[in-house]
Amino acid sequence: MYLTREEEAMLKGEYGYAAQKSMEILVALGKIYDAERMIEIKSAQISGVSYKSLGDEGLEFIEKLAEDGRVRVPTTLNPCGIDLERWRELGFPEDFAKKQFKVIEAYLKLGIMRTLTCTPYLAGNRPRLGDHIAWSESSAIIYANSVLGARTNREGGPSALAAAIAGRTPLYGLHLDENRSPEIEVKIPRSLSGYGYAALGFLVGRLAGDKIPLFRGIKLISDEELKLLGAALACSGGIPLFHIEGITPEAKLNPKINAPERYEIGVDEIKEVYDELNDYDVDPDLIFIGCPHSSIRELIIFLELLRGRAVKRRTWIFTSRFTRTLGEKLGVVEKLENLGVKVICDTCPIVAPIRKLGIRSIATNSAKGAWFSRNLNGLKVRFMSIEMLVELAVK
Ligand code: F3S
Repeated sequence: MYLTREEEAMLKGEYGYAAQKSMEILVALGKIYDAERMIEIKSAQISGVSYKSLGDEGLEFIEKLAEDGRVRVPTTLNPCGIDLERWRELGFPEDFAKKQFKVIEAYLKLGIMRTLTCTPYLAGNRPRLGDHIAWSESSAIIYANSVLGARTNREGGPSALAAAIAGRTPLYGLHLDENRSPEIEVKIPRSLSGYGYAALGFLVGRLAGDKIPLFRGIKLISDEELKLLGAALACSGGIPLFHIEGITPEAKLNPKINAPERYEIGVDEIKEVYDELNDYDVDPDLIFIGCPHSSIRELIIFLELLRGRAVKRRTWIFTSRFTRTLGEKLGVVEKLENLGVKVICDTCPIVAPIRKLGIRSIATNSAKGAWFSRNLNGLKVRFMSIEMLVELAVK
């Protein structure tokens, strides 16, 4: 693998411990994937922020890098395990919070921005078409590749952090044109709406594994639906990129793209996903939206659907502090909270120690949120539209 003089120097330790460790990780990856050289990146997004997933070993690794390391490109952070301002009020355990603050402190020392969101593209880190980036967090990766047309492989937390510190990543996989073409074509009978796209993503993720799908038949899809679709595709499969005929940028640039394998999805198959992701006998302890983190539009939609009615059970909207601040300025957050909805920041329903809050069942409009709540957190789940969630919340 060809390395520039600067990269060689980093590898030899001339730029300090963190840069050397980072180059070692990147060179090892480059060798595995046969990369010819490195490519400079425009930004990084780091997952592995919750103390729940990192543990003491992960914390020590980051603290060691932070002794002499600093990121070279704008770098944002995935959600952590607590809302940094309201953790006491929400009942998060003190010992967990203390460790979580130490993790954040180490990341800040490295020069990383405390965005704490899985939608960095809604919080100031929005790459452009063709930008090379190194992102971890599967829902953000698929959104950046597909909706924005940026280029990232499915990085893990350590490789994204290494790329941020070195300012580069090995040139392979989705950084190269030839690996971004669709491999399966999926025809759907008509446009869906809301959580229907989450169900579609969940179904196609299973069907496609990690192959790149090209969707035909979608006439209309909002940014929020693209977010739900992508998160579900990346959750049930390992899909890092999708195209939608006439809608996503690379499909628009190349309207004649085709895929070798073809499938047609019917309404009945989508209904089977609704059944699979619903424990129908459950009365949920918590209703949430915001997996991936909610946009300002989702906050407004939720408020409008409430029509002034107060919620009667625990109802949370997960979002970034960036979006919450915008919502505060627009008066949306105050109205939601006056009706009993909590607008939670910095954390997510999966990486927060949710069982320690006594929660045993949830309802959500996110297929990813439902799947991980059941399989990682051992909760009973309901999967339904945002309209149905609101009606359940006020009942
Ligand atoms: Fe985001 Fe957590 Fe869902 S990181 S995509 S809210 S599982």
